[in-house]
Amino acid sequence: MADIDGSNAPKEFYTDIPQKSENFYLKGSNSLDWGMKNRLSRIFNPVSGKTVMLAVDHGYFLGPTAGLERIDVNIVPLIPYADTLMITRGALRTMVPADTQKAIVLRVTGGASILTELSNEDLAVDIEDAIRLNVCAMAVQVYVGSEHEHQTILSMTRMVDMGLRYGMPTLAVTAVGKDMVRDAKYFRLATRICAELGAQYVKTYYISEGFETVTSSCPVPIVIAGGKKLPEIDALTMAYRAIQEGAAGVDMGRNIFQSTAPIAMLKAVRAVVHDNETPEKAFEMYTTLKSEKK
Ligand code: 5RP
Repeated sequence: MADIDGSNAPKEFYTDIPQKSENFYLKGSNSLDWGMKNRLSRIFNPVSGKTVMLAVDHGYFLGPTAGLERIDVNIVPLIPYADTLMITRGALRTMVPADTQKAIVLRVTGGASILTELSNEDLAVDIEDAIRLNVCAMAVQVYVGSEHEHQTILSMTRMVDMGLRYGMPTLAVTAVGKDMVRDAKYFRLATRICAELGAQYVKTYYISEGFETVTSSCPVPIVIAGGKKLPEIDALTMAYRAIQEGAAGVDMGRNIFQSTAPIAMLKAVRAVVHDNETPEKAFEMYTTLKSEKK
C-alpha cells in the first residue's frame, strides 16, 4: 500500500525533539494504566485537577428522595453544568439520554434500605454492565466501623481487582454509621483503609477540624459529599474550605438538587471548586443567577 502517493518529500522524524514522558496530574494516579487515567481525566478536569460530581444515586436505598422524584424532569437539565453524574444503572438507563457527553460514575453497591441495617450492602452490579454502560468509575459504599465493615471492605477490594483488570476506577464512598463520631480520626482511618486497599479515589465528609490531615494522609484524591441540605452560603463555604484544605472536588447531591435554584447553585459550586472563588463571591453569583431566572 502506498504511503503518500507521488510524494518525494523527505519524512520528518523530529529527531531533535525528545518524546515527552509526563507525570499524570492526579495525586497517587501516576502508576495507573492508560485507560484508567483516561477515565479519571474525564472526571477530574485536567486544567484545575478538580471535579464537581452531581450525586443523584440516593434512590438506591432511600427511594424517591425530595428533588429526585423525577430524574428526567429535575436532573437531566442540570447535567450540562456538572463534570460528572453519579447515578444508579436503573436511573441511567431509564431517564438519562444516551447522548450525554458527561462522565458517569455508576453506583455498584446495594442490598439495604433505609428501613433496615444500612451497612448490609454488597456488590449489586457486575463490572461487565459498567463497561457496557461506558461509565468512568464505579462507586462502592464502605462502612468502616459498622456492623458489616468486613463485607463492605471486601466488596470494595473485589471491585478494585475487577476495575484494575479492565481499566475502570473505583470510588470508595466512606459511609458513617448512625451512632458513629464524624471526626478527623475516623475519616483518616476510613479513607486511608480505602486507599491502601486500592481505591483510585475516595469520597468522604468534610469536617471543620482537621480535614487537612484527612486529605494529606490519604494518598489518592478525596471528594466530599454535600450531606443534608444547608443554606446555600453554608454549602458553598463547606465546599470552599474542603478545596482549600486539600479536597480534589465535591460529589454533591441534596445541596444542589434541593436548592431553589439548582443550576445557579451548580454554577456557584463550580466557581468555588475550579476557580478558587470565595464563598461570598460564589454566593453573590448564586443570588444573581437565581434572580435572573425569575
Ligand atoms: C450515599 C451517597 C450519595 O451519593 C451521597 O451521599 C449524596 O450526596 P449528598 O450527601 O450531597 O446528598 O454516596 O452514601
